[in-house]
Amino acid sequence: MSQSEEITQQDPESVQTDSADVVTDHNHKLYIETVGCQMNMLDSELVVADLRKRGYELTQNVKEAETVLFNTCSVREHAEHKIYSSLGRLRYGARKNPKKVIGVMGCMAQKDQKLIFQKAPQVDFVVGTGQLAQVAELIDKARVNHSQNRRSRELAVGLGRKDGKREEITNSFQSYDPLRDPEMRPSPYQAFVRIMIGCDKFCSYCVVPSTRGPEQSRGPREILSEVKVLADQGVKEVTLLGQTVNSYKHTQDGKLYRLSDLLYLIHDVEGIDRIKFVTSYPKDMTNDLLEAIRDLPKATRYLHVPLQHGCDDVLKYMKRGYTVEDYRDMMHRINEILPGCSVSSDFIVGHPGETEESHQKSLESIREFRFKNSFIFKYSERPGTKAAERFEDDIPEEIKKRRNNEMLDLQNEISEADNAEFIGRQVEVLVEGPSKSALKASDNSADSLAEQLMGRSKCDRIVVFDGNPRLAGSLADVEVIDVTPTTLIGNIITREYQHQSGASLPILQ
Ligand code: 5AD
Ligand code: SF4
Repeated sequence: MSQSEEITQQDPESVQTDSADVVTDHNHKLYIETVGCQMNMLDSELVVADLRKRGYELTQNVKEAETVLFNTCSVREHAEHKIYSSLGRLRYGARKNPKKVIGVMGCMAQKDQKLIFQKAPQVDFVVGTGQLAQVAELIDKARVNHSQNRRSRELAVGLGRKDGKREEITNSFQSYDPLRDPEMRPSPYQAFVRIMIGCDKFCSYCVVPSTRGPEQSRGPREILSEVKVLADQGVKEVTLLGQTVNSYKHTQDGKLYRLSDLLYLIHDVEGIDRIKFVTSYPKDMTNDLLEAIRDLPKATRYLHVPLQHGCDDVLKYMKRGYTVEDYRDMMHRINEILPGCSVSSDFIVGHPGETEESHQKSLESIREFRFKNSFIFKYSERPGTKAAERFEDDIPEEIKKRRNNEMLDLQNEISEADNAEFIGRQVEVLVEGPSKSALKASDNSADSLAEQLMGRSKCDRIVVFDGNPRLAGSLADVEVIDVTPTTLIGNIITREYQHQSGASLPILQ
């Protein structure tokens, strides 16, 4: 049995079709809704690029699209509600236009599987994170069935984490990394590059190990050739993606490659100016990686390393595998090897058993570690996780909200104070293009050569300044004159000006 047959299950009610049949009597408008993390954004980009090659055209109007895809997230219940209500709204449209093909892909597809057909009977196929290569074929199959007034309910998903030998489970999750269409990237100068899939950490609250399967690192040769193609297409910044990206490990031609080795390889690619990676796992933040960042000028001085909680008891419930003291040790090493490196975190508030005292410890950790920013989430019980099995979701929503707001306020205060240190200093910015607020205002504004542009500093701070939009994709020096908790505001300094005037501002990253 081929692998795809093995992992493609069919609903008993469904009707087999000959996949050689292709129905062309439909419009090629494609609508896609994506929720969730950067991995999902990359998956959507790649699926859309593949479908565009087959003649599809993206539309923002779900009503006119005869192919509708949802790329879903299961990390919190709220993200799932969002998709189920979008599916609910589509019910009438699907009845009215029988040509409409609807597919659900991603983490919720892997997690809920057939339940999706029960909750949303208008869905034609459900395709997991490890089967994305099958999307085009599943759309064609659904179309053939619709043309014959039949509905197939195709389910293509990976195995559960206890449903076979490790190798079988691993093989049922395939990384999807076809060559892409440069026009489809959200920015011509930036690209995500997947270096690994899955997760083996099994934090007690988290669905990712089951929705994305076992940890698997892609080979360095494959990754490098993808980065070279991207650089040839004009990409300046690559962001390497993995759930625990610094756990990257791959043996090729008898040599073990870790993330630090990969950074060296990518650093040599001509045209690439910046290399970032997310998300890191605290226990795997080894010195060889920090030293590689120190020694490689293209590596950003920025690490996203979620602490999740500031109380050891809660970290233990979470099965994170470290204590606050371990995290402190990591922060010391980061500050020693990479002075000025910014660190951001994720936190969960309202985890079962979180007392007021333990919440105070999370606040204290924000004060101590002075994160550049923190993403703060209210605990959401996820069926199938260890936390859901072991603990009652016992913190009332009101308390979760209050704790969430307290953390946000404190983090904002710290971010603004630390950003203020940049006032009067110069930062090197990779210019991304017009800022969002400039885009909004552009309808009313008078034409002028200078627009409000945005980019990021080498320590990943958002920087806005006025400049010529043609600077997009280049590195610019900006003097910071004001700040908010999230943004540095500045004036561009041309390199010639610096040279002629000899003006020297202290350079921060
Ligand atoms: N409830 C709330 N937040 C969660 N996260 C992961 N699982 C849950 C959950 N069940 C958060 C973690 C993780 C981020 C991506 O989402 O903080 O780092
Ligand atoms: Fe989820 Fe933990 Fe893996 Fe992150 S490290 S994806 S929180 S299980």
